[in-house]
Amino acid sequence: MADPFSLKGRVALVTGASRGLGRDMARTLAGHGARVLCAGRTVKGLDATVRAIRRAGGAAEPVPLDITDEAAMRETVAGLIRRHRRIDVLINNAGILYRQPAVDTLTETFRATVETDLIAQFALAREVGRHMLTRKRGRIVNIASVLGVMARGGVAGYVSAKHGLVGLTRVLAAEFGPDVTVNAIAPGYIRTEINVALQKNEDFSDMLERRTAARRWGHPRDLRGALLLLASDAGAYITGHTLVVDGGLTTALN
Ligand SMILES: NC(=O)c1ccc[n+]([C@@H]2O[C@H](COP(=O)([O-])OP(=O)(O)OC[C@H]3O[C@@H](n4cnc5c(N)ncnc54)[C@H](OP(=O)(O)O)[C@@H]3O)[C@@H](O)[C@H]2O)c1
Repeated sequence: MADPFSLKGRVALVTGASRGLGRDMARTLAGHGARVLCAGRTVKGLDATVRAIRRAGGAAEPVPLDITDEAAMRETVAGLIRRHRRIDVLINNAGILYRQPAVDTLTETFRATVETDLIAQFALAREVGRHMLTRKRGRIVNIASVLGVMARGGVAGYVSAKHGLVGLTRVLAAEFGPDVTVNAIAPGYIRTEINVALQKNEDFSDMLERRTAARRWGHPRDLRGALLLLASDAGAYITGHTLVVDGGLTTALN
């Protein structure tokens, strides 16, 4: 039987591939046969991801891109499609977060978060999705968060954008079917640069480990199974879904 999780011959565009979860996702997709286009702003980080993939025998290239620069994004996507003749998989992973009480948050700060975490995801999904619809083939995976299905104080822009991303996932799934699936992954707390402040906060860590059935922080590798399922043929009949991968954090009120 052919491996339903194989990505051999597929071209995958991963945003935020310069570090953290995006780097691990890029390596995971490449490890399963995809040629991975690694997008982000920090060229040094992108190069490191690409080197790691090539060292392991995979295929990858850096794609310097600020996803909030819509003109640059459109030009980049068009160029990638011209060069590779296709994008089979889009992983909308790039994201930012600020921590501040809502009453102290400037509209500009809120807007910048929504710009990066929701509007840029929409614009990318639209540009890549149009191409996927023409080819009658595609997988879009939006990286949301447990803060896309529940809230926590101090991150109003992030919570609003991630809830929006869950909604966007559903509406695009409805429009892009039957050949293009659109799903989201909602990770719990995974140790990366985005949450260094929380990692250093003992009270938060104790609360997290007590409340999480898995009794630990997540590791980027914990997302690999969900990613491969939603990016490959294995997920052909799954669309509009938000797959929570949080060690049980949102399952019970412990
Ligand atoms: N870690 C967690 O616990 C967790 C939990 C739930 C959801 N998530 C989500 O997972 C995604 C990745 O987070 P992470 O933990 O890996 O965070 P991270 O280590 O801070 O990485 C964020 C990535 O996004 C990229 N990025 C940010 N703004 C960008 C822009 N304007 N254009 C292009 N790339 C941009 C960054 O690259 P450059 O700076 O090089 O551009 C970086 O590669 C985010 O969407 C985050 O919300 C993370």
